Amino acid sequence: MRVVHDIEEMRAISQKARAEGKTVGLVPTMGALHSGHIELARRAREECGIVIMSIFVNPIQFGPNEDYEAYPRTLKADAELAEEAGVDYIFAPDAKQMYPKEPLTSVDVGKLTEHLCGASRPGHFRGVATVVAKLFNITRPHRAYFGMKDAQQLRVLIRMNEDLNFGITIVPVPTVREADGLAISSRNTYLSREDRLRAVVLSRSLKLAERLVASGELDAGKIKSAMRDLIMSEVPDALIDYVEIVDDDTVQPIDKVDGKALVALAVRIGGTRLIDNVTVKA
Ligand code: PAJ
Repeated sequence: MRVVHDIEEMRAISQKARAEGKTVGLVPTMGALHSGHIELARRAREECGIVIMSIFVNPIQFGPNEDYEAYPRTLKADAELAEEAGVDYIFAPDAKQMYPKEPLTSVDVGKLTEHLCGASRPGHFRGVATVVAKLFNITRPHRAYFGMKDAQQLRVLIRMNEDLNFGITIVPVPTVREADGLAISSRNTYLSREDRLRAVVLSRSLKLAERLVASGELDAGKIKSAMRDLIMSEVPDALIDYVEIVDDDTVQPIDKVDGKALVALAVRIGGTRLIDNVTVKA
């Protein structure tokens, strides 16, 4: 496995692989690799001739008061994990190379970014879509792997790929969880031991939503308040950013579950903002 820092070198490697008829797989990440990222890499390894994992903490997707500076940067440990998972190339450019000038061009995926994290993190998805478009242009993958853990991000990127004719196969990968159900995230490392244990209430509240829908409760308002009540009863000092139920395609809030819906939440526990989601079907 090689670590490539240079954009042009990365472009040349990918071009050569394409010319040789290899399927190029891309796994975009911000590093601090965990078993969620590794699952994406494993899938890519199974399905592609060469696997590129990008590791880039993208400044333009962080808000002014977010954790860009504090975000864990662990390239050495990441390289070992990536190699074990079968990654061929880590692409780790620095911010100066990715953004040599103030970027004047950006990608906005309109309505899909109005709610959920799009509402609480203004500009976040513009930053994500813009950097992923750049990564797509640099690495020209046939297939790109994204986790369902970031449900809105996945939908935004699927739509960007369609709207802008990238022609890439976007592969969604199911959320990898800890044994107790907590969705694995780089930000879990910010949690104190006690908060880590309490954070299990998030996946439990999603399970509750699943059970309610399965038992015929389709009123989104009732499902959301049952989820909120559970979260607040177990973690009274939790700060709920949102608990929302949206149409699975349009990402617009719905009153009644009808067809496929996405149940998503963002909650701060001990100051750490955690997200999780599940899809339900009426
Ligand atoms: P990052 O948070 O590092 O996540 C990289 C990829 O790993 C995303 O596709 C994310 O959905 C997936 N992932 C994270 N935790 C997961 C889990 N528990 N199970 C399955 N997949 C998981 O998402 C980003 O980086 C950035 O926004 C990026 C797309 C790289 C653009 O900067």
